[in-house]
Amino acid sequence: MADLTNLESKLGEVAGLAMAAKTATQKVMKLAREDDNDMLVALLERMQEEAAETEQRCTDLAGDFEGKKTAILEEARETKEKASRMLEIYLDEESDVLDGFEFLTMAEAGEAGHWEVLEQMARSAKASQVEQLVSWALPIQQRHFETARETSAKLASDEDPNEES
Ligand SMILES: [Fe+2]
Repeated sequence: MADLTNLESKLGEVAGLAMAAKTATQKVMKLAREDDNDMLVALLERMQEEAAETEQRCTDLAGDFEGKKTAILEEARETKEKASRMLEIYLDEESDVLDGFEFLTMAEAGEAGHWEVLEQMARSAKASQVEQLVSWALPIQQRHFETARETSAKLASDEDPNEES
């Protein structure tokens, strides 16, 4: 398989994180449904659609790297698998929707951080197409992170801190 530059490999990683985000939001959506929280279900549906669009845009851009698409997508698949393992370790049958949003806080922070790394590399490489993708994706990922944090705090405020967990 073709060797990847650091820039190409980071593009694969953000693509893989977007794939993992689709699975993670799906899992947390299930917890929100169990809680009859329609507002959170709607919020997660939007996050999931945006993750799907992020993945699509990354995949499209990978196709513009002559002869590298397969290797970039392989990098994406590996990253997705690592992130899926983290999800499985973190969320189990005991988990509730607050646990779900706490996981999303970690995952979305990691995702936003990766996009910032890609932003810097695209700037150094003067890779304008990648820069364009970053300027679309980074604000969305930062919003996902803020949403996950704020929702976790909101859910925490609804819980009785003295009740047995
Ligand atoms: Fe995200």
